[in-house]
Amino acid sequence: MIRKYVVFVFCLLGLMPAYAQQSGDSAMYAFVNHLIGEMTLDEKIGQLNLLTSDMAITGPTMRKAYMDDIKAGRCGGIFNAFGPNYVRRLQQLAVDSSRLHIPLLFGFDVIHGHKTIFPIPLAMACSWDTAAIAHAARLAATEAAADGLNWVFSPMVDIARDPRWGRVAEGAGEDPYLGSLIARAFVKGYQGNSLDDSLSVMACVKHYALYGAVEAGREYNVVDMSRRRMFEDYLPPYRAAVEAGVGSVMSAFNEINGIPATANSWLLTDLLRRQWHFKGFVVTDYDAIPELINHGIAADTTAASKLAFQAGAEMDMQGLAYVHTLKTLVQEGQISEDAIDQAVRDVLIAKYKLGLFQDPFNRINEARAEREIMSPDKLTFVREMARKSIVLLKNDRQLLPLKKTGTIAVIGPLANDPRDMIGCWSGAGDWHKAVSILQGIREAVGNRAKVLYALGANIIDDTAMLRQLNAFGADIHPSPLSPQQLIREAVATARKADVVILCLGESAGMSGEAASRADIHIPEPQRDLLKAVYATGKPIVLVLSNGRPLVLTWEHAHIPAILETWFLGTEAGHAIADVLFGDYNPSGKITMSFPYAIGQIPVYYNHKNTGRPGNPEVKWTSRYLDIPNDPLYPFGYGLSYTHFSYSPLHLDKKVLMPGDVLHVQVQVTNDGQYDGTETVQLYIRDLVADVTQPVKQLKAFQQVFLKKGESKTVTFRLTADDLRIYDKQMHYRYEPGPFEVFVGGNSRDVQAASFELK
Ligand code: BGC
Repeated sequence: MIRKYVVFVFCLLGLMPAYAQQSGDSAMYAFVNHLIGEMTLDEKIGQLNLLTSDMAITGPTMRKAYMDDIKAGRCGGIFNAFGPNYVRRLQQLAVDSSRLHIPLLFGFDVIHGHKTIFPIPLAMACSWDTAAIAHAARLAATEAAADGLNWVFSPMVDIARDPRWGRVAEGAGEDPYLGSLIARAFVKGYQGNSLDDSLSVMACVKHYALYGAVEAGREYNVVDMSRRRMFEDYLPPYRAAVEAGVGSVMSAFNEINGIPATANSWLLTDLLRRQWHFKGFVVTDYDAIPELINHGIAADTTAASKLAFQAGAEMDMQGLAYVHTLKTLVQEGQISEDAIDQAVRDVLIAKYKLGLFQDPFNRINEARAEREIMSPDKLTFVREMARKSIVLLKNDRQLLPLKKTGTIAVIGPLANDPRDMIGCWSGAGDWHKAVSILQGIREAVGNRAKVLYALGANIIDDTAMLRQLNAFGADIHPSPLSPQQLIREAVATARKADVVILCLGESAGMSGEAASRADIHIPEPQRDLLKAVYATGKPIVLVLSNGRPLVLTWEHAHIPAILETWFLGTEAGHAIADVLFGDYNPSGKITMSFPYAIGQIPVYYNHKNTGRPGNPEVKWTSRYLDIPNDPLYPFGYGLSYTHFSYSPLHLDKKVLMPGDVLHVQVQVTNDGQYDGTETVQLYIRDLVADVTQPVKQLKAFQQVFLKKGESKTVTFRLTADDLRIYDKQMHYRYEPGPFEVFVGGNSRDVQAASFELK
């Protein structure tokens, strides 16, 4: 059967011997155009139809109707299907049974690893290590490809300033500069040097666009935003992904200023294609075309299809809208067949670049799957990535690192909980293989210390929320003991110990898609537990597992040591133990502000100054009566077991001319007791511009490893191009005038100096 396919492809190529003489790209276009010439309108529309596979307890399954669609050439790709055997069967069906033998795309949400689960993306971002993130994406691609996939719905690059939104877990946080570097790292990692490398997968940047700005942090809500804010803060990471060569773009669910992204021609065509020169294809999000009816801009599916297609949405994810309506729209002359051809061309070119016309089975290899999936090198790197992602939020009187001696009480609902360690969006991950915190601690101390354990509380006692989480597979089983009994038992356990490690936070399903929370404190039963253990007077290390910044004001005021571990993936427990006992010195820095109170949201470091900058001493200024303006923990913040001191800044000139370079230097000294890594951050402020500018903007950072006692000089280079802003006409250019530059270990604690751009 494969031979038949090869014969077909060669026939096509044979029809045009000139291909052989043409350069790679023109041969590709000639091949694809010829193929389009062979296709019926139904077959063309079929290429724009993306269908899901289902999952049963026995494994993945395919609806009979979809199997028929594959055979009839009414399907361009399948998602949620993986595993070499299963993918081979489906690919075989397409290649053998459909008239033109066109291979399928196989897509999946590989968000932070495929089967070997990496830390959630928000956690990886806290490493600020873009090379490590690119390597993580590369390993995820290798594993996904070995499992038969050729397309991943990642990276998610939505800038987010509202931690109520559950999907902040999937992104890189609040900063456009760091977010852009991370977007690029993911794309490069997934796609490698060449898409036809069978270890590469095509990336899909999402959710285009501005999904992270949904009003009130409520899932799928509306976005209303000025063009200025879009360009300054929210669009840069999508653009960075396009510039990195991302093969596909997923349109977002949300509306933007009244026009849903999926039907937004300004977004999908003017900006993406004409201004950014995107060359791949656009896929909608799940069912987003029929949802245009709910949005209230289409009366029926036909109208919805027309709007989405004309806007530039080329592939319909599981909406079954194109496959049912595009033909009539073409026959009635409402959509031209040329436009359909262009969309089909974009999809077929992606398949061509993935090498699927040369070999539709190029990623399907059982032996390789056996070798690659959860291979030791991946697990080693996951542990490394997980350690880098941990952020030390507080460490009074050097409570951490702990000694591996005495009696250690490990308490809390997330302590003995491998299931939650892999976090949201870990579809193919097997939580049975994840290492719990308790297990990590036990392995680390061996028989040198006594480890006691108590559950202490359920993650949540709110039965309505529990029902919702369990309906989507959380499988949370509350303890048969009452909350009071659980706390009593935990307090008794704590009393027997020298130190208590309290493992609190969220269940994995409390962040991710459709997981907005209005109250982002640690859930109540766990706070009750924390307060009860606190009352024992025992030293407490609070280890948090959660998918979003939480409000930790009480915790910060009372608990001496706080470790933010997010959801760290398969090797969570090992990585956490490495940090708790000082085998690894934490270096992560948060990439989203932790609010002081929910009422502050949105709170972010790169805010504007206002005409009356907040001053707690002066009534008529921009501030709250009851809380400070600043977040509890600012963007870029994270401690180390050692201490870094910064020399005053040195600038090699006071006046920067366009075309010249300003060197900003600072000496960083490790004057603490441990070797460690510091992320040195550089921010600028444009003091006087035609358009108001943020009080700080990240422009560069460098990571330095310093041995105890060691100093290093860090040098940053700034040019006029780094100082560009969107002017009144929205032109991106620099303006002469005074600037401030800040350097420090987070966005709050910085050294400042000034210079002028001439
Ligand atoms: C999500 C996307 C995801 C898609 C396919 C949607 O509900 O918004 O991020 O890629 O489903 O699973």
